[in-house]
Amino acid sequence: MSQTKTILRALAGETLPTPPIWMMRQAGRYLPEYRATRAQAGDFLSLCYNSELAAEVTLQPIRRYGFDAAILFADILLLPEALGADLWFVTGEGPRLSTITSQDDFDKLGPVSDIHETLNPIYETVRILRRELPAETTLIGFAGAPWTVATYMIAGRGTPDQGPAHALKDENRALFEALLDRITEGTIDYLAAQIDAGAEVVKIFDSWAGSLKGEDFNRYALEPARRITAALKGRYPHIPVIGFPREAGDNYIGFAKATGVDCVALDNSVDAAWAAKHVQADGCVQGNLASSHMVTGGQALVDETRAIVKAFSGGPHIFNLGHGITPDADPDNVQRMIDAVRGD
Ligand code: CP3
Repeated sequence: MSQTKTILRALAGETLPTPPIWMMRQAGRYLPEYRATRAQAGDFLSLCYNSELAAEVTLQPIRRYGFDAAILFADILLLPEALGADLWFVTGEGPRLSTITSQDDFDKLGPVSDIHETLNPIYETVRILRRELPAETTLIGFAGAPWTVATYMIAGRGTPDQGPAHALKDENRALFEALLDRITEGTIDYLAAQIDAGAEVVKIFDSWAGSLKGEDFNRYALEPARRITAALKGRYPHIPVIGFPREAGDNYIGFAKATGVDCVALDNSVDAAWAAKHVQADGCVQGNLASSHMVTGGQALVDETRAIVKAFSGGPHIFNLGHGITPDADPDNVQRMIDAVRGD
């Protein structure tokens, strides 16, 4: 059956006259309606696990802007919690988790088969969304990539240079690899359950891929993405996968071929003309406007948006930011970006 949803067409390799568009963190604190629903839920994690309200915040940017895709509202750190880590968020600071630095810590984690007990509300959010989304809107599910998730599980928080995770990798490689394996297996089952519930595309967020160099990039960014993609393709050959090895630099080249993903999401440190030549040659790309334009706006926002659309116009492209929109963004700038993409 031929696809009518624009994002699925781009992911199938079609070059469209106007790229479909969605935005990382499109449901988020820059929107007053998001802040109101989060207050109603109590806090961020309660919002993630409240299926009705999580579906509501997922729908808010679709109602306001008519994006071509909705991304499930959840977080990459729910999987560690489902695997048995403690997770909480400190307002204004970010996530905190119990740390994993020894075999004893690792042995306290539960088996992959137990994750669904915690994650069932997320699958229910997906089911609600498939009922309530407009017929033309694609529903994207997601998970963190094993390396990025591991950096949080090892350090117990976000770190500027992922130092603790690199240290564990270098000092106790067997334990580090056992942790990566557990996350990889959990991610496969988590994404499969999202697909079973109705996700039409899945995206793997490797936010800290850029700190892996040389052979480490191949082993801990490429290989887990390849394993997850292969496992999903074995069960769901028709479900497209988007990979996001953020700040991978030259390692973006060949990423799609090596992992089997259908689309590579680009961060905004990548020059669009360079990526059109070296990355889009292998298939669909997504990106890559700097999210700072959503704060600063003006003519630069319009010019840069048009330049990116033009640079990628020769192949399949999904317009997006290079990273998530920030809380200080102006909602009107989002509309200006959409108008510039759609030529309104
Ligand atoms: O994109 C979407 O709209 C879907 C939902 C989504 C969230 N987080 C909601 C969220 C997705 C896809 C994520 C992914 C995620 N979460 C990543 C990978 C992408 C990236 O940003 O690099 C990472 C590293 C996380 C972990 C995480 N979650 C951190 C470090 C933080 C704190 C920083 C921050 O922005 O506050 C979060 C919190 C978070 N996740 C918020 C949202 C909307 C803000 C929480 C709030 O509302 O208070």
